[in-house]
Amino acid sequence: MKTTHNILFQDARDLKEIPSESVDLVVTSPPYPMIEMWDEMFSHQNPEIQKALACGDGKQAYTLMHEVLDAVWSEVFRVLKEGRFACINIGDATRKVRDDFCLYPNHARIVNYLLNIGFSVLPDILWRKQANTPNKFMGSGMLPAGAYVTLEHEYILIVRKGSKREFKTENEKENRRESALFWEERNIWYSDVWTDIKGTDQKLPNAMSRLRSAAFPFDLAYRLINMYSVKGDVVLDPFLGTGTTTAAAMTSARNSIGVEIDESFEHAICPVTHHIVDFSNDYLYSRLLRHYAFVQNRIQKSGALKYTNRHYDCPVVTSQEQFILLNGLKEVQAHGDNVFDVTYTTKPQTWNLEHASETLVGNKTKRHTKPFQLNMLDAK
Ligand SMILES: C[S@@+](CC[C@H](N)C(=O)[O-])C[C@H]1O[C@@H](n2cnc3c(N)ncnc32)[C@H](O)[C@@H]1O
Repeated sequence: MKTTHNILFQDARDLKEIPSESVDLVVTSPPYPMIEMWDEMFSHQNPEIQKALACGDGKQAYTLMHEVLDAVWSEVFRVLKEGRFACINIGDATRKVRDDFCLYPNHARIVNYLLNIGFSVLPDILWRKQANTPNKFMGSGMLPAGAYVTLEHEYILIVRKGSKREFKTENEKENRRESALFWEERNIWYSDVWTDIKGTDQKLPNAMSRLRSAAFPFDLAYRLINMYSVKGDVVLDPFLGTGTTTAAAMTSARNSIGVEIDESFEHAICPVTHHIVDFSNDYLYSRLLRHYAFVQNRIQKSGALKYTNRHYDCPVVTSQEQFILLNGLKEVQAHGDNVFDVTYTTKPQTWNLEHASETLVGNKTKRHTKPFQLNMLDAK
C-alpha cells in the first residue's frame, strides 16, 4: 500500500496543474481577512487592499481580501469530484479601522460565496478555543452598552459538491469499512462543538513544531480527513502553510496535494517528512489505546460487547467497527520537486504490552489486567 504527496509552491487562485474532478476532499484554513498578520499577504495579491487600509476603509479592504479567497474557492469547486466535501477552518475578525470597531464576519461571507458557486452547505463545526488571558474582555469593562463578547471560537465550514457520494463496488465498500471510526470517536468528532482541541497543543516533536501560530492542530486535520474521506482518497489543502494537512493525510493513508504561495515554508514542511513515520505510528497506537481504555471501562460498567474488531481482536460497540484497520507507516521516499511516497503495513501492527500499560494508566508501577486479548497489545 502506497500514497503520494505533492507540494506545489504557487498561487492557489490558479490550480491548472490539478485536473477538474480529481480531488476527494479539501481540508484547509485560509489567511483570515482583516486579521492584521495577513494584511501584507493579501496586499501582495491585490495592492488595492493596502490602499483601502491606508485610507481607513475597512469594509472595502474586507471585500477585496475575500475576492482573493473567492478565486481559490472557485478552483476548489472545479477540482473536487462529485459528492465530495470541503472543510474550511475560518475565524471572524474584530478590528478597529480608524474609529470604527466592528466584527468582520468571514465565515458568513465565505458560506455565501460557496453557496453561490454551487456547493451544498452542511452543518458546520464550532471550534471553541478558550483564551484564558485576563485581558480577554474588550470594551467598556463592567459598564453596560459598550462591551463586546470575547471571540473564542472559530468555524469549520463543511460543504459538499453535488449529491451524496456512493460506494458501489465490493472493493470500495471494503475500503470504506476499513476506514471507519470507533463508536466513541464518532460521538465526539461528529458533534457540532469541538472543545477538546486546543489551538496551541500540537503534540508534535520539536522538528515538526509550527513556525507560525496560524497553523491548525494536527488533530483537527486528522479528524476531518478521517470523517470526510476514505483511505486512498486525494486530499487537497490550497493554503498549506506548515504542512499539517500533508502530515495528517500521510498518517491517514490518504494521498495529498498541498499548495502554498510562500516558498519559505519549504523549510517547515520537509522536516515533517523525516519524522512522520515515528510520529504517525505513535499517533495511531495512541488512538488504539484510547479505544482499548474506552472498551475496558464500558465492559466493566455495562458488561460484554456484542462485536469484535477482526484485525485487533478487540471488542467494539457496533458492527460497523469490525473491520477498522489503521495502517502503520513503513517509510517515506522523497522524489525531486517536493513529491513524497509513503508505504504502509497492510496487517495490524504488533506493539509492546509494557509500553501500552504504562501509556494507558499513566503510572509505570501499575499494570492493567487484560479482560480480553488484543492483537495490538500482544507482548513480543
Ligand atoms: C492560515 S495559514 C495555513 C496554515 C496551515 N493550515 C498550517 O497548519 O500550517 C494560510 C496559508 O495560506 C498561504 N497563502 C495565502 N494566499 C495564498 C494563495 N493565494 N495561494 C496559496 N497559498 C496562499 C499563506 O502563505 C499561509 O501559509
